[in-house]
This record gives sequence, C-alpha cells and structure tokens, in this order.
Amino acid sequence: MPSLRDEVEKLKWWHPIDLGNGLVTPGADTHIAARLAEIRMPASLAGLSVLDIGAWDGYFSFEAERRGARRVLATDSFCWDGGGWGTKAAFNLARHALHSRVEDKWIQVLDLSPETVGEFDVVLFLGILYHMQHPLLTLERVSSVTKGLLIMQTQVDLIGIDRPAMAYYPGTELNGDPTNWVGPNPAAVIAMLQTVGFTRVEIIHKSFGDDVVFDPKRAISPNHVTVHAWK
Ligand SMILES: C[S@@+](CC[C@H](N)C(=O)[O-])C[C@H]1O[C@@H](n2cnc3c(N)ncnc32)[C@H](O)[C@@H]1O
Repeated sequence: MPSLRDEVEKLKWWHPIDLGNGLVTPGADTHIAARLAEIRMPASLAGLSVLDIGAWDGYFSFEAERRGARRVLATDSFCWDGGGWGTKAAFNLARHALHSRVEDKWIQVLDLSPETVGEFDVVLFLGILYHMQHPLLTLERVSSVTKGLLIMQTQVDLIGIDRPAMAYYPGTELNGDPTNWVGPNPAAVIAMLQTVGFTRVEIIHKSFGDDVVFDPKRAISPNHVTVHAWK
C-alpha cells in the first residue's frame, strides 16, 4: 500500500498543508503563512458556520475547522475540474489525512445562493473576484450567502484614483492569465460591497507594489487588498 507521503507526491498542490508527522504538501503558494496573517481569520470560530468559496486544496477551510468552526463548507469548480494545474484529488487527500469533517460542494460562484448552499456566519472569498467576468453580480451572490462577516482578498488596480474605478483585463493582459478579468481600485471594492448590502466595510490590509511584476508562486498579484465586510 502506498504511504501518505507517496500519495501526496503524486499530486500537484497549490496549498502547502501541514498533514502532521512532518509532512507538508508541496504547495506552490509559498506565501500562505503571510496570507493567513493578512486575512485576520478570527482566532476562534467556535459555534460558527464557514463557507470557503474557491477553496482549491482547502488550506483555509481546514484552518477554519482547526479554529473550531461548527461547520465548514468548501466550494469550487474551475480548479477542482483541472482548470488550474491540479484536480480535486489534492483536497480529498488532505481532508482524509486530516480526518477532517469539512464538507465540499462543486458549484460555480455565480450559482451560490441561500437555496443552493444556505447562509453562513463567515464567508471566505480569497483570490477570486478578479477571476469573475461579472464582479458586481458575483458580489451580490456572495452577499446573499453571508449572514455575518465576509473576508475577501482581491487584486486591485488604478490605485491612485480616489473615485470608484475598475480596470478591465481583456484576453491575457493581466499576468498572461486569461481567467483574470477585473481589478477594482480600493474605493470600488468598498463601494461595491456597500452596494450589495454590507453595512460596514473595512480594508484591513493593503499590499501595493510600485510595479506590477507578477510572481506566479503567489495566489494573487502583489497589488491586493484584504477586506472585512459585515452585514
Ligand atoms: C487564485 S485561486 C484562490 C484559491 C484559494 N481561495 C486561495 O486563496 O488560496 C482562485 C480560485 O478561484 C476558483 N475559480 C472559480 N471560478 C473561477 C473562474 N471562472 N476562473 C478562475 N478561477 C475560478 C478557482 O477554482 C480557484 O480555486
């Protein structure tokens, strides 16, 4: 029978996930610890339900479970289908190795609704908005399933403009990746979240580089913000 280490090595990983006994999955996102610090996930999620949209290998889902969440649902579509470079096999293996009770559901972001997934106390929406061709519609869907706190991290652009504005990336304009579509500026991030029903929106972390050199090992570009938004 192959060892867990053998099984891990057969797969391609986005997230480095600590599976215990010194075994960490060889995920490409080497900035994961910094990202976890940036998003300020509450230290205790005891009694709360958490939805991790676009969970990929599930790093943030498993972390939410570790912090005591009553229920965690991981959703994804694109990368679980092989649109990135792995498949859902990595998420499944990590969940098994961690004896995790994180639930999973294959669903497109635009199909999220109280009817399809329910409503959650905490929603993680990390590294996804800029992949969406319809950002405001996307945020309406995300808002519809958020009862309490939304934690969102996204690419931003047009940072010097004070008014809400959004860059559009046709084709492969952003980082050669045809799945990147929009870069709102921070004012647009705040305004859109208020438009879709969040009453308090706070940018809790900014990372603005002078250049926009893309490091493919990062989940998102160096120009990004992290937001906490409350219903
Ligand atoms: C950059 S990864 C972020 C993964 C994880 N949330 C994180 O922060 O590490 C983008 C995620 O968005 C998901 N996604 C959903 N719809 C997508 C689409 N239309 N195009 C690209 N990615 C999409 C991918 O499957 C992937 O899991």
